[in-house]
Amino acid sequence: MDLKQFEERKLDHIRHSLDRANQALGLSGLSSVHLQHEALPDLDFEEVTIQSLCLGSPQKTPFYIAGMTAGHEQAFQLNRTLALACQERGWAMGVGSQRRDLEAKGGLSFDAWKELRDEVPDLILIANLGISQVIRAKTSEIRRVVEGLRAHALVIHLNALQEAVQPEGTPQFRGGFTAIQRVIDDLGLPVLLKETGCGFSEVTLRRISRLKLGAVDISGLGGTHWGRIEGARASSGSIYAEAATTFADWGESTVQSVQAAAKVLPKTTEIWASGGVRSGLDAAKLLALGAHRVGFAKPALEAALEGSERLHLWMAAREYELKTALFCTGSLNCEELRQKEVWVRS
Ligand SMILES: Cc1cc2nc3c(=O)[nH]c(=O)nc-3n(C[C@H](O)[C@H](O)[C@H](O)COP(=O)(O)O)c2cc1C
Repeated sequence: MDLKQFEERKLDHIRHSLDRANQALGLSGLSSVHLQHEALPDLDFEEVTIQSLCLGSPQKTPFYIAGMTAGHEQAFQLNRTLALACQERGWAMGVGSQRRDLEAKGGLSFDAWKELRDEVPDLILIANLGISQVIRAKTSEIRRVVEGLRAHALVIHLNALQEAVQPEGTPQFRGGFTAIQRVIDDLGLPVLLKETGCGFSEVTLRRISRLKLGAVDISGLGGTHWGRIEGARASSGSIYAEAATTFADWGESTVQSVQAAAKVLPKTTEIWASGGVRSGLDAAKLLALGAHRVGFAKPALEAALEGSERLHLWMAAREYELKTALFCTGSLNCEELRQKEVWVRS
């Protein structure tokens, strides 16, 4: 791996993800979901709680910040800002791809993770590796990366479209299912599968429902779109730029993916919903459709780049919106919301 090229690519990704043109706006399906208003909730607002279980452990909220960044200098500061806020507010947090930790043997980033972990010992922190790296790595190497972070779980991210349209991409996914099975059997910690903005079809979900996964993070179509981001990075006129334009709306919407997951995944696998989630009301809709946790990436990044005060305010607003949705549907908690009737316009 060329480290300089790797760091530049990660910074490019942050920059392009903030551009509205690289968001698949309006495609999440969330505007078609209607929660019924309860005009006479038999509740006081103060009683309503958004506390939830996360992989079996009680947390103050059902929220998480989805993995975004790792492996370069700016990443450490950003992850620190996000991690401190998440620990304080009871959100879980994923880090971005740790490919660099896997490929560089020990050294700097391990010291950085240790420093960060010492500051946030109680945070539910999730390690992150891409499927094309997992296929080629030994479980002992993967364990070293996960333990370096003292992570609660490992996310294996799936990003077929991104790898296919990125000039430096690694679209070598053959043997992925067996590799995931091997890591689940040998790692000794929960393993989560996650998309990165293209979601999961019912067919894929049926196939992976045989695996003993801790959770599936849907990361559906409707928010940050990696076809668009790689298209913006590619040289104009290249085959990559053309293909990225063609695939600009590719994927399964967040709403359809969550509905399919609720239908086919075993009860032992949590449904984590992300991809175009922009408010606490969006989160409430996804919880009502069967999700157990709801995640944000780009809007959290945007707030964190403005500093910790802005980030706390942004998080507090999402929590308040979710609480308001619970109150106005007459739900005391997220479990009760999950039992409510939801209308989805086709
Ligand atoms: C700057 C940036 C970097 C990302 N890097 C990763 C990554 O390394 N690993 C991963 O699993 N997902 C990564 N993602 C994808 C997010 O975790 C999430 O699945 C996706 O952005 C959809 O959520 P959103 O619409 O709220 O942004 C990244 C997202 C952003 C915005």
